[in-house]
Amino acid sequence: MTKPLHDLEAHHLPAGDRPIYIMAIETSCDETSVAIVENGGAIRANVVSSQIETHQRFGGVVPEVASRKHVESITWILQEAVEEAGIGLGELSAVAVTQGPGLVGSLLVGVVAGKALACALELPLIGVHHIAGHIYANQLEHPLEYPLIALVVSGGHTELVHMEGPGSFRIIGRTRDDAAGEAYDKVARAMGLPYPGGPHVDRLAQEAEHEIVMPRAWLEPDSYDFSFSGLKSAVLNVVNQSKMRGEALQTAQIAKGFQESVIDVLVEKASRAVREFGAKQLLLAGGVAANRGLRSRLAARCQELGVPLLVPPLSLCTDNAAMIAAAAFLKWDKREFADLDLKAEPLLKLEEW
Ligand code: KG4
Ligand code: ZN
Repeated sequence: MTKPLHDLEAHHLPAGDRPIYIMAIETSCDETSVAIVENGGAIRANVVSSQIETHQRFGGVVPEVASRKHVESITWILQEAVEEAGIGLGELSAVAVTQGPGLVGSLLVGVVAGKALACALELPLIGVHHIAGHIYANQLEHPLEYPLIALVVSGGHTELVHMEGPGSFRIIGRTRDDAAGEAYDKVARAMGLPYPGGPHVDRLAQEAEHEIVMPRAWLEPDSYDFSFSGLKSAVLNVVNQSKMRGEALQTAQIAKGFQESVIDVLVEKASRAVREFGAKQLLLAGGVAANRGLRSRLAARCQELGVPLLVPPLSLCTDNAAMIAAAAFLKWDKREFADLDLKAEPLLKLEEW
């Protein structure tokens, strides 16, 4: 799938000190985003259009609706990103696009747009793994030091990743059922909270004085895997029982019990991985990285371990194209370009990105 440098005409690659501008496109789920990033680190534009309002009335993302919305938005978002960056299309060095994983219809819109641009502008095309993007969002804020451990927690993913060096990803643990964000959203829905539920559960958990204690899924003693479906069922049980008894739902206490259980397991497994692999940094990535409880507990644990915790600002935690450009820069460096037959891969593996 990768194309060697000599296949591209030399004038497409900036010479000498000319800045490298990578335009990136992200459409893997329900955010349409286009960014232009200079030299892998300076964000010149990062336009994000969220479809949350559209999906809210269905209580979750409807894939068919998501792809249609991406089609409607992609052209004007591309235009807006170019205007915001204040650079001409002729100055771009490469076009990057999220190849997977994600919703196939949504991914396709970005992949087709990326290929069309790369073809029309005669630029190299770079395929990027969505999770590599989430991890490299951190590099937009802080230089990375290896080996490192990344805890990726989003609506679709819960993964512990060990990285020996730039672009080398090894998943050491993953969820066996629901992703952390997915569990947040499902629990929130059961309590009648709007989609996406994560921020609401987080807020309620901060407000609660007491918690309704929930189970923790530690799995086998040496496993770095996660499981949130048992916890989700425990919450649903409490909700259903209080409904059957006609009692008022103790939403804050339930939210706190749920959140404490999620955080305990995430913090414990992430810090065990930091120790075992001698990590120089712990990176937090993905939409659930916005969680205040998780941030503060991880920060405290990292301080005890003497290892810096890197967390991107909120705007770079949730899906955005600047993170895709940051990861694409690694492939730019190695001249790992894709052919124009690049395909959207809903199940793309991080190790094979
Ligand atoms: O990374 P992201 O924007 O999309 C995916 O790639 O999945 O993550 C979205 C997820 C949603 O499940 C949302 O509920 C969750 O991140 N989330 C939170 C918080 N803010 C967003 N979960 C817990 N606490 C939060 N403060
Ligand atoms: Zn994401």
